[in-house]
Amino acid sequence: MNIGIFYATYSGGTQAASEFLSQTLQAMGHQATVKMINEVTFEETLNFDLTIYSSPTWDFEGKEGQAHQDFIAFMEKSKGKSAAGKTFAVFGLGDSSYAHFCSAVNIIEDFVKAAGGTVKSPSLPIDGYLFDTEKNNGLITEWAKKITS
Ligand SMILES: Cc1cc2nc3c(=O)[nH]c(=O)nc-3n(C[C@H](O)[C@H](O)[C@H](O)COP(=O)(O)O)c2cc1C
Repeated sequence: MNIGIFYATYSGGTQAASEFLSQTLQAMGHQATVKMINEVTFEETLNFDLTIYSSPTWDFEGKEGQAHQDFIAFMEKSKGKSAAGKTFAVFGLGDSSYAHFCSAVNIIEDFVKAAGGTVKSPSLPIDGYLFDTEKNNGLITEWAKKITS
């Protein structure tokens, strides 16, 4: 499978998790490309058998529970475009001590569905990635199998 992983990050966790996912998928025999979401157009993210979006959940303009600002800009620019027939998977980093745990995952899922894309479920919310990288990389490895099956 040819897989594109598109991420944004503030403190590096989502980048590390995306790179780990890419290595895991490659070890499973897939092709995987990792890019930052602010480097690509919506159309470019569709040139894959499977498109993965990943974002931390953060504050935006004083409001908690938002996607990364680069994802907000990407979704805004891509509004009204079609992803019909395309398959996606979504994962996100967050911290369960916040009221809206990993809500960027739901926001991005809704964006994909509104564009007519199919989201492979379940999406993967990751709690405190950098606090227990080994355990969380284990979750990513399990998830990689599900989204490619
Ligand atoms: C200012 C701030 C706001 C945050 N808001 C949320 C939130 O609303 N929900 C959540 O689940 N995590 C929240 N987090 C936790 C981050 O999503 C978490 O630390 C994540 O691992 C960061 O990913 P990154 O390293 O890719 O930027 C927040 C963290 C900070 C510093």
